[in-house]
Amino acid sequence: MSEKEIISALKYVSRMKPEFMLSEMRNYIKSEMYTQEIYNIASSSFFDLGLDIVPVDDDFKVFRAPGGFIELSDREEQINEAFFRTAGVSRKLERLIEQFIEKKTGKDWDDPVILDRIRKAVVSQKADYWKSKGSRNISYEKGYDILGYLAYQFPVYFVQFQHILYGMAEDGLLKKRMKVLDVGSGPGTVPLAITDLYNRLEDNKALVHSIEMYDENIEAYNFLVPEYAGIKDKVDVREPEKIDIKKLDVGKLPENIDLMVFSNVLNEIKDLSNSEKAELVKEMSEKLNQNGSILIIEPADKVNSTEMRGLAISLKVMGLGIYSPCSFIWGSGCNPQGCWSFEQQEDIDPTRLMTRLAECDEPYRYINLDIKYTYVILRKDNLTRIKYRVSPKAKFAKLSKLGKHTGKRINVIASLMSGDLGDEKNHLFKICDGTSAKPVYAVLPGHNLTPENEVITNARYGSLLSFQNILVRYNEANDSYNLLLSKGSLVEAVEG
Ligand SMILES: C[S@@+](CC[C@H](N)C(=O)[O-])C[C@H]1O[C@@H](n2cnc3c(N)ncnc32)[C@H](O)[C@@H]1O
Repeated sequence: MSEKEIISALKYVSRMKPEFMLSEMRNYIKSEMYTQEIYNIASSSFFDLGLDIVPVDDDFKVFRAPGGFIELSDREEQINEAFFRTAGVSRKLERLIEQFIEKKTGKDWDDPVILDRIRKAVVSQKADYWKSKGSRNISYEKGYDILGYLAYQFPVYFVQFQHILYGMAEDGLLKKRMKVLDVGSGPGTVPLAITDLYNRLEDNKALVHSIEMYDENIEAYNFLVPEYAGIKDKVDVREPEKIDIKKLDVGKLPENIDLMVFSNVLNEIKDLSNSEKAELVKEMSEKLNQNGSILIIEPADKVNSTEMRGLAISLKVMGLGIYSPCSFIWGSGCNPQGCWSFEQQEDIDPTRLMTRLAECDEPYRYINLDIKYTYVILRKDNLTRIKYRVSPKAKFAKLSKLGKHTGKRINVIASLMSGDLGDEKNHLFKICDGTSAKPVYAVLPGHNLTPENEVITNARYGSLLSFQNILVRYNEANDSYNLLLSKGSLVEAVEG
């Protein structure tokens, strides 16, 4: 009996019955087969057939999976908000990572010699990262490269990904049954983060396919991800495909992807220009469902952040739509040259491993808790997070016209494109309306904070705000504009 025949029999039976036992399939196929044999042949197809399957005694119950998008319940919101207040790596996952260190080294994870080697790996990885792009050679060939990554970068990236994913859940972008392709998976940060979040949601499931180039990363992935995902079985993970994405055969990727993720990957791909990366992502988007999302995340430093904005705009020009964080309220494209915009979140809790690594003369080298990242969500269906468009009659100045208004008080409407970049005296926020080639900042001196303008201090990144009665100043040193908020300025949330 071929796989094809079994799948078509499954399709037939599942159309007839919303729920059935897998053993019943034996009545619909010609050859004699055990239920377990049918399961083995069909197990990788249930997700695509829109079916859920659960073991029951010696058999399996098969039923139609719920369709559509996740709508968070009050309880799910409470649980997740509590998680994000003191977010970190769960004790179970921490322990799994410690066990991986023990497996790789044959010693206790906190053996002083092992800790010292991990410290060296962290230091050398950071030194590589900060080399200029041309001479950079970040490698994951040695076992300690991965241990250093798990100790230092992983905890932040793990929580960071959950912030973004949860934001997508709040926006109704995550499917109740979601097929994910994680590109450059490393030790499995993204599937581990998806597992963590889905374990805090009710009846929702994901299937994750991964691509990774280095054996050491794949080994870590295979140790950590299936075990962690298996705890609640909400996330089904496939073994990573060992692929260099520069040589990717897009035709061989899984079909009907709902979420395609590039988390801290594109900036590390050597020998590809930004336009070649854009072509690669565009080509891969063939495999994305019409209502699916592509999520690109990069570090927040100026070089990587500005490069990613350029990449996002290239993809927009190539026909993908930007869902967030950018909005195009004047209906124009934008000039991404030098656009440095990133999101910040609360610090994470350190892991036990990080704390132990920091018990040395230079603890600051091994503590990595702050979350800052650059991201973009792209779509094929041109859905946008911000729907607002400025009406021709509205009395707002475009940020591209600030030169004409310098020294005057005006009204503008723009998205909040940073956290608070200021100091004790002044709050400072990057804002953008998609028209200005020069950076624009809203400056709110602490003594001018009033209930009428304080909304800017707690608005969501990417949300749209209107500003009334603000003073335009040109900052010659930075070739940028500052919009000064006074006690009489009014800031209102418009959307998002
Ligand atoms: C900084 S790590 C990110 C890992 C994970 N996505 C995360 O967010 O923690 C970059 C990953 O990209 C992978 N990578 C780099 N170049 C690649 C290529 N040409 N093909 C496939 N993977 C690549 C590396 O092996 C590494 O796992």
